[in-house]
Amino acid sequence: MSALLQPFKLKDVTLRNRIAVPPMCQYMAVDGYANDWHLSHYASMARGGAGLVIVEATGVSPEGRITPGCTGIWSDDRAQAFVPVVEAIKAAGSVPGIQIAHAGRKASANAPWEGDDHIAESDARGWQTIAPSAIAYGKGLPKEPQAMTLDDIARVRQDFVDAANRARDVGFEWLELHFAHGYLAQSFFSSHSNHRDDIYGGSVENRSRFLLETLREVREVWPETLPLTVRFGVIEYDGRDEQTLLESIGLVRDFKAAGMDMISVSIGFTIAETSIPWGPGFLGPIAQRVRREADVPVSSAWGFGTPEIAERVVKEEQLDLVMVGRSHLANPHWTYFAAKELKAERPSWTLPAPYAHWLERY
Ligand SMILES: Cc1cc2nc3c(=O)[nH]c(=O)nc-3n(C[C@H](O)[C@H](O)[C@H](O)COP(=O)(O)O)c2cc1C
Repeated sequence: MSALLQPFKLKDVTLRNRIAVPPMCQYMAVDGYANDWHLSHYASMARGGAGLVIVEATGVSPEGRITPGCTGIWSDDRAQAFVPVVEAIKAAGSVPGIQIAHAGRKASANAPWEGDDHIAESDARGWQTIAPSAIAYGKGLPKEPQAMTLDDIARVRQDFVDAANRARDVGFEWLELHFAHGYLAQSFFSSHSNHRDDIYGGSVENRSRFLLETLREVREVWPETLPLTVRFGVIEYDGRDEQTLLESIGLVRDFKAAGMDMISVSIGFTIAETSIPWGPGFLGPIAQRVRREADVPVSSAWGFGTPEIAERVVKEEQLDLVMVGRSHLANPHWTYFAAKELKAERPSWTLPAPYAHWLERY
C-alpha cells in the first residue's frame, strides 16, 4: 500500500494524497492580474491528481513582485481574478492554496528566460526595491535596496494581512507565507542581509521579529479551520549550517506556537556563494530533523519528483507532504504516473472520473 497516496488531513482540510504542486511562478500576469494562462496551467495541475495545488508567489504589493509578470493580490479586483483558478482547482478535486510573498531586494527582476537579473535602472518597467538593510544581493541582482523604516515594516505586515483576507474571501483553502529563498522575510532572518541595529536586527530574536509578527497578524484573520503554512529556508549551505539550523529550528518552534500548521522546509538563498549538495531527495534528512525537533508537520521540495523517492520519504517519515514541482510541469498527470509506477491498486482512480473510467477499462 502506497504511503504517498494516503490522504493527509491538516486542520479541517483533507488532501486526497500526499502529493502537492509547490508554488511555481509563471511570470505571465499583466499588472498583477491572473489570466487565462493561470487558469489553464493550474487547472491542468489539479486535474492530474495532486492533493494540493499552491498558486505561485503572489505579491502583497506591487513592489513585492519578483518580476513585472508576477501575480498580485494587493487589490480586491486582482484577488477576484483568481476566482476561476480557485474554482477550477476545486472542480478537479484538489485543494486550492496560494503563496503570498514580498520579494524584497530580489524584486524588480526580469523573468528567467529574459535573464533572471535585475531590470536595468534605465528601464521604466523596474522599481526601487526595499529590504532590512541597504545591502545588494550581488551576482545578477546588483540593485541596492532602500533600508526599510519602521513605517515600511508596519506597512508590509499590513499588506500580508490584507492579502490573507483577500485570499480567504476568494476561496483559497490553504495559505502559505513565503518566508524563504532570500526574499524579504528570509532577508530579515539572515545576518548576511540584515545589518540593522534596531529591534529588527542583531540577535536571532530581533532578526525573527518581522517574520513572527507577520505570522501572528495573519493568523488572526486566516480562519482557524484552514491550514496556514510557512515556506522557510532553514539552511544556506554557506559553511555556517549547524548554527543556522539551530536558529531556524528555534524559529520554527516559535512559528508553531504562533499558529503555523506546517513548515515547508527549503533553502535560504540569501547569498550567491553557497555549496548546495543538489541531488535526489537531499533535503529529506534536514526536513526530518526539523519535523522531529520542532514537532511539526513538514513538506519539502527540490528533487523529490520521482515516484520511488517521493514514496520513500513519506514512508520513512521524512516528509508528511511531498512537493513535486518540475516533474509536474513535464507531466501534469504525475500522480497517475506515480500511482502506476508504485503499482497502486487501480491507479486510474487518482484521476477525475471522466478520465479514470476510460483508463480503467482500456
Ligand atoms: C518555474 C518555477 C517557478 C518557481 N516559483 C516559485 C515560487 O513562486 N515560490 C516558491 O516558493 N518556489 C518557487 N519555485 C521553487 C519550487 O517551488 C520548487 O521548490 C522547485 O521547483 C524544486 O522542486 P522540484 O525539484 O520538484 O522541481 C519555482 C520553481 C520553478 C521551477
